[in-house]
Amino acid sequence: MSESRAAHDAASPGVLTRFADRLPLTGATPRISLGEGSTPLVPAPSLEQITGAARVWLKLEFCNPTGSFKDRGMVVAVAKAIEAGYEAVLCASTGNTSASAAAYAARQGLRVYVLVPGGAVAQGKLAQAVAHGARILAVEGSFDDALQLARAVTERRSIALVNSVNPFRIAGQQTAAWEIVDALGDAPQIHCMPVGNAGNITAYWRGYRDSYDRGDAKQLPQMFGFQAAGAAPLVTGRPVQHPQTFATAIRIGNPASWQGAVAARDESGGDIVAVTDAQIRAAYEHLARAEGVFAEPAAAASVAGLLALHDHGMELAGRQVVCVISGAGLKDPEAALQIQPDRRDVPATLEGIEAALD
Ligand code: F0G
Repeated sequence: MSESRAAHDAASPGVLTRFADRLPLTGATPRISLGEGSTPLVPAPSLEQITGAARVWLKLEFCNPTGSFKDRGMVVAVAKAIEAGYEAVLCASTGNTSASAAAYAARQGLRVYVLVPGGAVAQGKLAQAVAHGARILAVEGSFDDALQLARAVTERRSIALVNSVNPFRIAGQQTAAWEIVDALGDAPQIHCMPVGNAGNITAYWRGYRDSYDRGDAKQLPQMFGFQAAGAAPLVTGRPVQHPQTFATAIRIGNPASWQGAVAARDESGGDIVAVTDAQIRAAYEHLARAEGVFAEPAAAASVAGLLALHDHGMELAGRQVVCVISGAGLKDPEAALQIQPDRRDVPATLEGIEAALD
């Protein structure tokens, strides 16, 4: 290995290198990386002020290479697919999983097929799949239909399924919990996150428990998952036929990791709660305006949920809270452009500019 290549690997090692001893790797697992993981954990002062929590931390998962948390699990799933001899990968996706699969497959020279619910994927995510050269199968149905088909077709063909039903995805996504424990020196008391297909809440809970078992964390958090009210099967207790929400990433009616989400909720003494689109939109705008954090709508569900817990009277004083910000605002420009812009058309003159200032 050249010196500059070694220096690069050391600068951004990625999760396979950073957590090699804690992930299900073998000597034959290629240590691929796009520099995923090691995302910032930043305080959110306005949310501390509103809720009275001692600290509210935002785990900025949109700082991963493809702009969402999916890269942590995808790098493991793709590495294990290569180790097993696959030359193609496939997933169903509301957009972020497909963007991540497309990027890692492109880098490793694998064919990649993505099944997306037709007409229901944010433009930025579709742009990523296009740019990376994925074959896009726009399914005339929901995400849940697409996932069922993805499972069926990968059983018939020699193509690796890289949805979170693949255990290597969940294994890799635990690394976010490990990083939080590393950064805080313990687990937080309250962990807030959006829930769609429920792989990520399953992974975080497993990750926190693993840190606790190793003695890295002295406490376990209460896990709070938030679903959009129009797509809240884990709240109502039964699948939703036609899930609806403007947070398209979590427009899912029958989560694959249903049991994992229920276990996280019950074992941690937490809850899974519905937040309305209006609450998600308000949190989305608040994050952007008050914290300078441009998250995609589904990611803002963490904060919408925290604010809902506070509104319902939950005592947060003295508590450390972590909210996962799971995906980037730029992925869904249409959602942002629904905000009334503060825009003036001005003549190209100094007077024109000055007249438009406060
Ligand atoms: N936040 C974002 C930005 C997501 O893209 C997703 C899921 C979630 C939260 C929910 O995570 O499914 O593990 O409960 N997106 C998947 C996808 C379904 O296809 O990109 P989950």
